[in-house]
Amino acid sequence: YRTLRVALLGAGAVGSQVADLLLRHGDELADRAGAKLELAGIAVRNLDAKREADLPRELFTTDAETLIVGSDIVIELMGGIEPARTQVLHAIASGADVVTANKALLATHGSEVFEAADQVGAEVYYEAAAAGAIPIIRPLRDSLAGDRVVRIMGIVNGTTNYILDRMDTEGADFADVLAQAQALGYAEADPTADVEGYDAAQKAAILASLAFHTTVPLDAVHREGITSVDAAMIESARHAGYVIKLLAVCERLAAEDGGTESISVRVYPALVDRAHPLASVHGANNAVFVQAEAAGDLMFYGAGAGGVQTASAVLGDVVSAARRHIAGGVGVGESTRANLPAVPIGRVITRY
Ligand code: HSE
Repeated sequence: YRTLRVALLGAGAVGSQVADLLLRHGDELADRAGAKLELAGIAVRNLDAKREADLPRELFTTDAETLIVGSDIVIELMGGIEPARTQVLHAIASGADVVTANKALLATHGSEVFEAADQVGAEVYYEAAAAGAIPIIRPLRDSLAGDRVVRIMGIVNGTTNYILDRMDTEGADFADVLAQAQALGYAEADPTADVEGYDAAQKAAILASLAFHTTVPLDAVHREGITSVDAAMIESARHAGYVIKLLAVCERLAAEDGGTESISVRVYPALVDRAHPLASVHGANNAVFVQAEAAGDLMFYGAGAGGVQTASAVLGDVVSAARRHIAGGVGVGESTRANLPAVPIGRVITRY
């Protein structure tokens, strides 16, 4: 096999698991990818930080910039906008394909990153950026490319689903369950991103952009978190036959008065009928319920958070990137990228 050089940026909950799986399953991945995936190094901020996997010390460096140069595939798992944005653009300019789980970066600078990639014929893979291990990016981008998605209703944040579920099933206290979600590694470094709906809003912007073949800016997403949900609300919802879930709802809205079709994207604690499949999504799991004109109702379900689970999606992207390299740069998704407006559907609005 030809050897492809892989650079990993970040060794947190997801990054350390990606490195561990890459090293342990190297031969199997090489067979699948048609290339040997050589982990050239892992760039981190602090060489002495505690890792969740036992990784060879000589792989670690604090010099991301040098590591990137000469790499075929750069996996960005640092999170946050900077320095992730700069390093991703550097990777693209250096001729690498990028695999990222960075929802914040894509939801705010997606167009910049995709345009930079287009200019040099690079590809950006981001299956892990929304709903963790659940394959949802490819289904929306590729499998449903011949259909018309009309609505997505997603539970796309594991931490808040874990909190609401424990409050619903055990009457647990909000603060206690949040602390547990943090201990289990589901919550973002700053859990405000989870409980105030910012994380879900970023994922909603990414999913809506793909589903509706347009660019949905993050500030067009209506956002409400779960901090105002208390035990009494959960109890009255239960009596009425509902469960409260933090939903990301992305919908196509019919044109009004001869205007153009528009879309609405919003994240809010919603009353979900207990008979609906989304009501039985428990713990830190996620689910994305997709309604398409021809396909009808589809539901994608699984682990939405967690290091090793999300690493699964990252490695799938690494294999795709490797296959593309081996095939001579003929991309699988290049013409169907989220920010290419294949179907202009007019203004993006928020309606709640
Ligand atoms: N904090 C996120 C969640 C992690 O709870 O869903 C996955 O993006």
